[in-house]
Amino acid sequence: MRDRGFKLAVAGKGGVGKTFISGTLARLLARDGYRVLAVDADPNINLASTLGIPREISERITPLSENERLIAEKTGVPPGGSYGLVFRLTPRVDDIFQRFCVEAPDGVRLLVMGTVKGGDTGCMCPANALLRVLMQHLLLSRGEVVVMDMVAGLEHLGRGTAKRVDSMLVVVEPTLKSIETLRRIVRLAEDIEIPEVLAVANKLRDERSRKLIERELGDTPIAAYIPYDPSIEEAELLGVAPLDHDEHSPAIEALRGLKEYLKDRYGF
Ligand SMILES: Nc1ncnc2c1ncn2[C@@H]1O[C@H](COP(=O)(O)OP(=O)(O)OP(=O)(O)O)[C@@H](O)[C@H]1O
Ligand SMILES: [Mg+2]
Repeated sequence: MRDRGFKLAVAGKGGVGKTFISGTLARLLARDGYRVLAVDADPNINLASTLGIPREISERITPLSENERLIAEKTGVPPGGSYGLVFRLTPRVDDIFQRFCVEAPDGVRLLVMGTVKGGDTGCMCPANALLRVLMQHLLLSRGEVVVMDMVAGLEHLGRGTAKRVDSMLVVVEPTLKSIETLRRIVRLAEDIEIPEVLAVANKLRDERSRKLIERELGDTPIAAYIPYDPSIEEAELLGVAPLDHDEHSPAIEALRGLKEYLKDRYGF
């Protein structure tokens, strides 16, 4: 049994199911009694709908990165200030969680990080630094879980927003491209000392697609096999969270299995 909380990042190629998996997993964990913080680290901001937050509310969320006053207060760089400035970071980031989280169903709290400027200056900008510090210094007590929905691809690994997570799930679908992205993530995750990377195979339509993933993955353990499930797409068309649409659909049942697997493996 670990004596502190658990921090999980969910990564992978575009469109593989990161948001569906991280949002639904967050709610399933909350239903088990964990205090769950879901972090939307994807600038496209769509974790809210998967969590079941009504659109009227999610439209009004101000991403943390757009809160210039807060960034100025925490980093000492005035709004619009130069990235070249040396900035300080106050370690007091707890209040951010109090002030900026939105309540989601099942008691999940959502923190939307927002857009982080890319390119070479990406790692230097104050907003980015704040986000990184926030995630790295977040100390969790037992019973607390953070689930971060990462932006597609690899760039976030360079920014370090996923540094100090306890584990990273990389979602793959039965395509060689998504598996190639996993391989690259695995290599980069080593550089930033992420303790463990696990694969989650999603959108499996048959035995063949499962075999393809097993054959191609090599050493990366596969934490769950999630079937292709039309009810997940139906939920999206209806504008409801998959968990609210059909909580016993095959993909959701497979996510219950993933939740138990993670609890066992990491003892949280
Ligand atoms: N197991 C599944 N069965 C059927 N459809 C699925 C499944 N998982 C995800 N989807 C569908 O695939 C699409 C992409 O899912 P999702 O938005 O979760 O992916 P993502 O990796 O977060 O994408 P992005 O890179 O754009 O953030 C959605 O339309 C979703 O409904
Ligand atoms: Mg997404």
